[in-house]
Amino acid sequence: MSAEEELGRLEEEIKECQRCELWKTRTNPVAGEGSLTAKVLFVGEAPGYYEDLKGRPFVGKAGKILDELLGSVGLERSEVYIANVLKCRPPGNRNPTTGEIRACTPYLDAQMEIIKPTVIATLGNFSLGYIFDKFCLKRDKISKIHGKVFNVSTIAGIKKIVPLYHPAIATYNPGMKEVLVDDFKELANCF
Ligand code: URA
Repeated sequence: MSAEEELGRLEEEIKECQRCELWKTRTNPVAGEGSLTAKVLFVGEAPGYYEDLKGRPFVGKAGKILDELLGSVGLERSEVYIANVLKCRPPGNRNPTTGEIRACTPYLDAQMEIIKPTVIATLGNFSLGYIFDKFCLKRDKISKIHGKVFNVSTIAGIKKIVPLYHPAIATYNPGMKEVLVDDFKELANCF
């Protein structure tokens, strides 16, 4: 099966998913989008209000900032892949629960296996937590490790994990935009 067919099947499965309770309140699941041969995979937290309405990741305020950050290093959305830890919006944008993360992350794992990115950029704490645990990295405060590159050896070869602040931080703390811009430069040096 081609990567396109595999991702298509996965998206169909996500549309039918009832592994946790979030399917009851979602408008649309948000599987993810981007290049099937992307070198870099961005992993956000969960769909918000606009993502839930449109069925696409990062299309609200945080998405505008993500687009600017990608542009700052000469990247377009179509060249990367953007996914989330959770595929359905938690009501009122509350934090994901442990049970929801456990139920949903097999989809993210499958996306990583199909796309085979060499670089994984985490956006925010829940993404950092999941990806660091998955690759047996020691978690630390994002304020200490943002923009650093962590090399992990996997059966699929060396992968680089780059923890980043969630772009939404720049909507309530404009000074953080500069930090994100610098971290994106580090990220762009990885591939
Ligand atoms: N925040 C996220 O973490 N993901 C989205 O898709 C949108 C906002």
